[in-house]
Amino acid sequence: MYILIACAVIVLCIAGVSLYGNLRGIPPSGRMPLSGQEFPEGFLWATGEDAYQHEGGNLNNDWARWESQEPSPIKNGDRCGRAADFYNRYREDFDRSLGDRLMGHRIGVEWSRLEPSRGRYDEKAWRHYEAMLRAMRKRNFTVFLNLWHFTLPLWAADSGGWEDPRLMERWEALVARCAERFGPLVDYWSTMIDSQIYALAGYALGELPPNQRDLARALEVYRILIHAHGRAYRIIKERAGAEARVGMIYFFFHYQAKSFFLDRLVKRQTEDIFNWKFLDALHAGRIDVNVLLGPSVREESGLYRGTLDWLGVNYYTREVLSFDPFTPGFVKRTVCDKYPATDMGWEIYPEGLYRVCREAARRYPGVPLVIAENGLADERDDRRPRFILEHLAWTHRLINEGVPIFGYTYWSLTDNWEWAQGFAPKFGLYRIDRKTMKRTETASARLLRWIAGHNRLPREEELAGILDYRSRR
Ligand code: BGC
Repeated sequence: MYILIACAVIVLCIAGVSLYGNLRGIPPSGRMPLSGQEFPEGFLWATGEDAYQHEGGNLNNDWARWESQEPSPIKNGDRCGRAADFYNRYREDFDRSLGDRLMGHRIGVEWSRLEPSRGRYDEKAWRHYEAMLRAMRKRNFTVFLNLWHFTLPLWAADSGGWEDPRLMERWEALVARCAERFGPLVDYWSTMIDSQIYALAGYALGELPPNQRDLARALEVYRILIHAHGRAYRIIKERAGAEARVGMIYFFFHYQAKSFFLDRLVKRQTEDIFNWKFLDALHAGRIDVNVLLGPSVREESGLYRGTLDWLGVNYYTREVLSFDPFTPGFVKRTVCDKYPATDMGWEIYPEGLYRVCREAARRYPGVPLVIAENGLADERDDRRPRFILEHLAWTHRLINEGVPIFGYTYWSLTDNWEWAQGFAPKFGLYRIDRKTMKRTETASARLLRWIAGHNRLPREEELAGILDYRSRR
């Protein structure tokens, strides 16, 4: 009898939770139905490449040096080397992108090519990037250009990196020259990508160059990068014109606290520092970061206030956080395993994109958002189609609710160098054979081409035909 009552209570609770989910319009599993959702006219379908992760042949920076150590700090002992050989194959890759009708496209510049030694520019490299940008214009792309992502020229790394005040002068000079030379060829300027990861993983966790473990220094670099963005913003406006659209591309986790009070406390702290405080500073002109029983930074300045004309959201997964007295910041990060994972073990949790964008729109009213990176490591390409569809269904819902999202970027066009994970993770819409560098299209590339071409999601019953599209071309 008691067992029967207990079962009935459990069934009622489950039904109640699902009903509550449905009443809020959120299916309890986080899954969104495919009903042919249409995107607004002019919605930007995009993809892209990074400088270091795709170009190949970059040997003059701190990452290349770090990778050459013995024992190797990189998974499988990989070296970036030729990467995706994008430096030489950019035209054919752009044509692939055009074939996909993905009309937004992002590339980045590699500082160590443009300025191989302090104060000396390499004109050949400047001309190369100019040619790349022209090739993008010729294909009618909406051009996103990123100026800095993780790597520093050796001369900069060796004299103290961002902690050396002289680097800011070189950064300003570099940005000014980029704005003058590339100005007419760029639609959206990103000053930097995932700068908080650089500061925290590079200076507090010691996971990336320069491999330091000092929370106070990490916060100082965090502060310096906020300044670097603010300065770059003003310089680009001055040199490329006031109408230049300047923003940045930024990584977000969707965070959840594991359970009890202390978990919620560290979740709040981590979410603040990782997701929001950097951007809050660019919005409101105030840095206010406090680490539990640790260092803090407080500062106010007009230099970086109001310096987001747009914001690029990178979203991949969620993390569960719990209190742990033995880890830096007292926080233990774990991957949630409720839903299927990518080849890197990252849980596929599309609803997190919705949560993160809602919060960004609430905090930064008037700042247009673009999904600047969304993708997964999936060598067999058997989870990628659903991944793309579900993230897009949530994106569609955001747009319907008035969140100003103007585009979606799949990351990335081809397989790339995945930093400390080397070449093992396969993110690309196109697989790369590492011996021949030959690109092979995936079913997901066909799916995204279809979606971009129709400017809508397929209906469930259309899906099989689209994924099999190649045989009918
Ligand atoms: C980084 C990329 C990286 C991706 C997946 C992004 O936020 O910008 O460099 O490939 O995360 O880890």
